[in-house]
Parts: sequence; C-alpha cells; structure tokens
Amino acid sequence: MQKWIMSGLFFAACAFAVILMFTLPGKEQVAEQNNEAIPSVTADPAKAEATVKANCITCHGDQLQGGVGPNLQKVGGEKTAEQIYSIVTKGRGQMPSFKDKLAPEEIAHVAMWLSEKK
Ligand code: HEC
Repeated sequence: MQKWIMSGLFFAACAFAVILMFTLPGKEQVAEQNNEAIPSVTADPAKAEATVKANCITCHGDQLQGGVGPNLQKVGGEKTAEQIYSIVTKGRGQMPSFKDKLAPEEIAHVAMWLSEKK
C-alpha cells in the first residue's frame, strides 16, 4: 500500500516539474526583454546612406572618418546592428538620441548598414 503512495507522489512531482519547465520564462526570453528590439526591415543601403548624410555626418564626418563623434568606418567589427540601433535610439554621452527625429525603421536601416562596415 505504502509503495503505491510513494510512486504516486513521485509521479505528481515529475508532472509538476514538467509544468514548471514550460511555464517559467526561459533565460533567452528574459535576455531579449532587456534588449532594444530592432524592427525587421529589408536592407536598403541607399536609404541608410541618405539618412546618415542628413543626420550623422556633421559629427561623424562625411566619410564617417570621425570628428566630434568617433570614426564609424569599422563600427560593424565591434558592434552588432542591435547595439548600434540602441545607441542611435537612446543616445550615449555626447551622442544625441534620435528617437524623436527618426522613425524606428529608419534607425534600423542605418544600424544594419553600419553593422556591415567591418
Ligand atoms: C551631435 C553630434 C553627433 C551626431 C549628430 C551623431 N553622433 Fe553618433 N556619436 C557622437 C559622439 C560624441 C559619440 C561618442 C559617444 C560616447 O562617448 O559614448 C557617438 C557615438 C556613436 C556610435 C558608437 C560608436 C562606437 O564605436 O562606440 C554610433 C554607432 C553612432 N554614434 C552612430 C551615429 C549615427 C548613425 C548618427 C546619425 C543618425 C549619429 N551617430 C549622429 C556624436 C554624434
């Protein structure tokens, strides 16, 4: 009789563990929530370049060689599109935030274009 109770408890515990595994958010999900989500756009280099010419070269130079802001010619070697998207959206130090000036899609184009520069 006691054996049955023990195995019953064991199976209940297993079922409970399985339910927990599926309902608790995984580590990946938690990490994603902290990241600035980059809108998915199809790469459009011409559009990205036009946006950069209009908004960024005053500080980063017409060849992205740097000026007030750092050289961006090889920024893709150090940063992912997501990281660049986050910096341009929120700003950092002397770098202004473009959240109110550019649409998220425009920033995404620029971030993807810059992340190709290695
Ligand atoms: C008012 C001047 C200014 C403008 C305009 C500007 N930036 Fe910046 N940017 C900076 C400065 C200064 C930094 C360095 C920030 C720091 O010290 O953390 C920077 C940093 C960056 C970085 C990080 C570089 C690295 O290696 O860490 C990226 C990427 C960047 N800018 C992209 C852009 C883009 C794209 C635009 C146009 C949409 C833009 N910036 C417009 C001044 C500017």
